Amino acid sequence: PSPSGIYPGRGNPLGRDYSIASVRARAMSVRDTFATIHAGPIVGGQTLAGTGAVPMASPVDHGRTIGSVTAATPAEIDRAAALARAAQPRWNAMGGVSRGKILRAMADALDAQMDRFIAILSAEAGKTLNDAVAEVREAIDFCRYYALLAETRFAGPTVLPGPVGEVNQIELHGRGVFVCISPWNFPLAIFTGQVAAALAAGNAVLAKPAEQTPLVAAEAVRLFHSAGLDPDLLALLPGDGAEVGAALVAHPAIAGVAFTGGTDTAWAINRSLANRNGPILPFIAETGGLNGLFVDTSALREQVVDDVLLSAFGSAGQRCSALRLLYLPQDTADATIETLVGAAGCMVIGDPSDPATDIGPVIDAEARDALNAHVERLEREAKILFRADARGHDSRGTYFAPVIAEVPSPDFLEREVFGPVLHVYRYDPADLASVAGRLAARGYGLTLGIHSRIDRFAEEVAALVPAGNVYVNRSIIGAVVGVQPFGGEGLSGTGPKAGGPDALLRYAAERS
Ligand code: NAD
Ligand code: ALA
Repeated sequence: PSPSGIYPGRGNPLGRDYSIASVRARAMSVRDTFATIHAGPIVGGQTLAGTGAVPMASPVDHGRTIGSVTAATPAEIDRAAALARAAQPRWNAMGGVSRGKILRAMADALDAQMDRFIAILSAEAGKTLNDAVAEVREAIDFCRYYALLAETRFAGPTVLPGPVGEVNQIELHGRGVFVCISPWNFPLAIFTGQVAAALAAGNAVLAKPAEQTPLVAAEAVRLFHSAGLDPDLLALLPGDGAEVGAALVAHPAIAGVAFTGGTDTAWAINRSLANRNGPILPFIAETGGLNGLFVDTSALREQVVDDVLLSAFGSAGQRCSALRLLYLPQDTADATIETLVGAAGCMVIGDPSDPATDIGPVIDAEARDALNAHVERLEREAKILFRADARGHDSRGTYFAPVIAEVPSPDFLEREVFGPVLHVYRYDPADLASVAGRLAARGYGLTLGIHSRIDRFAEEVAALVPAGNVYVNRSIIGAVVGVQPFGGEGLSGTGPKAGGPDALLRYAAERS
């Protein structure tokens, strides 16, 4: 295995080039034949009744029903937990090499069905085709990378030195039943990544997808099972976070929680875990950020603009890694803003299954309303530099027109605004340390961007602002598994980093 975690002879899964007519035609034919999906609780490989079937409409077009979901009942959660607990010791005893084979079979199955999963992601989460391709590839990368870690780090005991006559060794093993709770913005990649990590380390999994995106998760669970995973080892338990999610976190059978989502939810889960009696459980939490990008006067303007647009507006700004605050030095700010606004005007907003689209809808009406309320604040307290035109799409789905606004103070944003809104702050280079320090004082620490041709500037900013992922002279989104291990610090996460060499350690226990 290479250090980047790519399995020899396989490499990353291939992407899709939509500039080729036949590739576009295939994407359209899958989209047009895509039938509805039911996401009930999946326990022991069976889809159960759950409670209160709710139809799921697409954020692209509310008139399109793409499936239905039923929430898991307390009895179904108990049954899933009992099956998982009974199956886990066998799975753990199989060893990392055998577990890796199943994860690789899942990766191959996903690769074979890439076009179908792209269509589901586009319909359910409003992903553009290119974002959906990247997401399926990331899910595949997670399976292969964690297979590699299982094969290498869970292959058996490591012998340690000691006095003559003793045998000393250390070995990793699964903890038991892990709860995996995921967000809607990467409903396949993060869902699959958490599940694959927990399984690779020798655990069974109770997986709770986000309320907005249970369909792609249900399809992923079915694929894990058909790829050879004992169905008792992985259950899907859809439902409200405050009900099903909270019940899972409080369940006596669990041995740990992996969570990705908002910081407030992470606090709620942390409190719930702290109130349990019994074993002290590991909690892996990856949460939101308040991500800044600092530019100095030596930066290349066109490169800054390209990277800023991608970082702020890619995936409709609905990435935890997305750029929220752009810091421009006052001497070159006007020129950069002029180029930025001009380039922003070229972005295409519309149906995400059209290959020409740059920005699709936001996830739901609640998200759109929150963004509109934020724009009202910007209109009152800041200066709007740019507002895109999304009116043509308003009535069919939850479209929101991207905004760029100049804010009067570096303290304007207290927390992440989750969508395509970019805030620009003009700074005096003499105040760099104080401006960067005020961002640091918010307590987040996810992504940080720096654009400069002067190494000392990059080093200075990186030292001033805590961040799990620091990017110099590139965009700040799109971390690649095994290449840019991803995750935050402070209010943004606990680690270990997803897609990094130590990703499995907190899913496991050690025995000497
Ligand atoms: P969310 O916190 O609202 O929900 C995430 C998950 O938690 C959902 O499955 C939800 O049902 C569940 N949940 C809610 N309340 C719960 C409770 N009390 N107990 C147990 N589970 C509960 O987040 P979201 O809106 O789905 O996702 C967006 C957020 O996720 C943003 O803040 C974004 O920055 C963050 N995010 C972080 C990363 C990262 O890697 N750091 C990646 C993606 C998204
Ligand atoms: N891992 C994702 C990114 O880097 C969220 O954008």
